[in-house]
Amino acid sequence: MKVKKVLVTGGAGFIGSHLVDILLEEGCHVFILDDFSSGNLRNLKRWRSGDDFSDFGDTYRYGYGKRPKHRLIEWDISKPLVSSPWLGSLEEGELDCIFHLAARRDVITSFKDPYDDAMRNYIGTVNVLELARKIKCNKVVFSSSYTIYKELDQNCINENCPKDPISPYGLNKLASEKLLELYNDHYGMRNVAFRIFVSYGPRQVPGSIFSGVVLRFLDHAMKDEKVKIYGDGEQTRDFIFVKDIARCLHAGFTDDLEGIFNLGTGRETSINDLLDTVRSVTGKELKANYVESRKGEVRRAVADLTRQIEQMGCRASTSLEAGIKETYEWLNKRKS
Ligand SMILES: NC(=O)c1ccc[n+]([C@@H]2O[C@H](COP(=O)([O-])OP(=O)(O)OC[C@H]3O[C@@H](n4cnc5c(N)ncnc54)[C@H](O)[C@@H]3O)[C@@H](O)[C@H]2O)c1
Repeated sequence: MKVKKVLVTGGAGFIGSHLVDILLEEGCHVFILDDFSSGNLRNLKRWRSGDDFSDFGDTYRYGYGKRPKHRLIEWDISKPLVSSPWLGSLEEGELDCIFHLAARRDVITSFKDPYDDAMRNYIGTVNVLELARKIKCNKVVFSSSYTIYKELDQNCINENCPKDPISPYGLNKLASEKLLELYNDHYGMRNVAFRIFVSYGPRQVPGSIFSGVVLRFLDHAMKDEKVKIYGDGEQTRDFIFVKDIARCLHAGFTDDLEGIFNLGTGRETSINDLLDTVRSVTGKELKANYVESRKGEVRRAVADLTRQIEQMGCRASTSLEAGIKETYEWLNKRKS
């Protein structure tokens, strides 16, 4: 059987590195593109012997025994990929799929620096699609976001609900999705976009602007500190464990599938309920300090999974409690 060759942009990041794990485990050749602005080589450590990353740079690893093949390409996605010495020399049909995850994932920063957000999050997608078109790779799997939806009164959000992003980040994700669809129609591609809801899990870094609320709560629990809650804590989110996200992104890599899918759990959890779960998993008291809500945040968000289940047959299987427990164990190991 022909070995599949794939490119993962943002592959040193939180979600991207879990996807790389799955792809290397199943024997794909994986090219990992990243600029390390928020990603880290530590996330790819299990594929390295020892801790020395010095030869990782431009080495195409042909593997010894069962050692998988991977290559790291340090590149800024906002520059045309076809200008990169290595990507520019790819031949037609050489890649079976591009998983496009490279992005700056932060709503607040997207207001502070909309130019940077547009370059990474929209122009980056243009560059990926142009590379795909040039080398006749007809499948791009894209990580979009639930932040593209208009704020809704209704409980569940399905893919046809109105879109009206309230941040530059959401706007660039929506524009990227539209571009993917345009390339499907115009060039006969079979691109897939996943609107990811709120992720958490091992390798999400606590204490950074990129870390989500689950990691922040766990980090505060470890340090016996108070947590800050924006608003009244009754805002809801659909929290999905990172390994479930990676599995579903991977399931998008099939010829049959095309289009846009929600990627969540279908469970609506308020921030206050999340706090209770974190208290029960960690056994910590974890007091809360309620402060003014933040600009650009939606009030309710839970995914309707009908399309995902009907067409993909892949869904999240990790309970919130189990996911938080695994993340807490990872955090404790990391700290020690
Ligand atoms: N984590 C979530 O809750 C969530 C929700 C919705 C959508 N997403 C999307 O999923 C994808 C992965 O997010 P994540 O949570 O793993 O974030 P992350 O920050 O860990 O991963 C993004 C990766 O992209 C890389 N990157 C950023 N700018 C780049 C550039 N100019 N050139 C090359 N690489 C660049 C970063 O170094 C990082 O490794 C992103 O596209 C994000 O928008 C994430």
